[in-house]
Amino acid sequence: MNKVAIVGAGRVGETTAQILAEQEVSREVVLIDIREDAPQGVALDILESAPLIGFDTGVRGSNDPAAMTGAELVVVTAGVPRKPGMSRSDVLETNVAVIDGIVDDVLRYAPEAMILMVTNPVDVLTWRAWKRTGWPRRRVFGQAGVLDASRMATFIAMETGFSVRDITTLVLGGHGDSMVPVPRLCTINGVPISHFLDEGKIQDIIQRTRDGGAEILALRKNSSAYDAPGASVAAMVDAIARNRRRLLPCVAILQGEYGQSDIAMGVPCALDGSGLSEVVELALTEEEKARFAESAGAVAADIARLADSAR
Ligand code: LAC
Repeated sequence: MNKVAIVGAGRVGETTAQILAEQEVSREVVLIDIREDAPQGVALDILESAPLIGFDTGVRGSNDPAAMTGAELVVVTAGVPRKPGMSRSDVLETNVAVIDGIVDDVLRYAPEAMILMVTNPVDVLTWRAWKRTGWPRRRVFGQAGVLDASRMATFIAMETGFSVRDITTLVLGGHGDSMVPVPRLCTINGVPISHFLDEGKIQDIIQRTRDGGAEILALRKNSSAYDAPGASVAAMVDAIARNRRRLLPCVAILQGEYGQSDIAMGVPCALDGSGLSEVVELALTEEEKARFAESAGAVAADIARLADSAR
């Protein structure tokens, strides 16, 4: 890939840029932010690590949205993060205005690009960007499940002592309190986690996964999570840039799958050079279906809030 643009040079944007640069996922990474000097400072700081780490990725910062011209992928991380005690939905009205402006910039300067939404509430904002662009869902998707599944894998590793390399997890649904970890499909190299963990422990891990973002926020106090979120975004960009066809949980526009339409939610998807090339519809148990539907209800309520505030 030639060029990735990251809009929002906050902590998630910076961490993403740093990993993409270090791994030479694209030839160039451009950080765009409205704060004067901020993206230039972040870019220069990352560049100054290049001689030590040994990468040739071009990294630059700009306050001008025109800097995204030529980007094949635009990662959107701009917006306000939540403060302790807030839910991800509490920042909806503020962030939707930010996102609308960025989507218009993408339409103007990078009309052939893909959009990877990261800003919260990510499900609703992915849906909003998809609506506003009118693009096929292949080109507009969001990050959430990669992070949630990574958190769940971390907690399983902590409980079992097994290497994270052997742990596979799956989290579906909206990136909110009603997200749907699926322990039935979590394994340690094919061995179900229930072989090692009793039901009480599994339930604790599910709850800790749901509260994963809030746990970090409560500990850091002055910041939401950004190390694991940045690594999650970078994993998705890598899958696209290197045309890997990875199967990753992504925020995808659903068009009948899982009984849902005109909504964006976390489901397993194929990610390759063309973007989100396939939504994989899993057979769920009745209980999983009910939880997924409940999560869909929460996302749909936020989408409806947008419609109300537009009136
Ligand atoms: C989290 C926020 C960023 O899960 O959504 O950490």
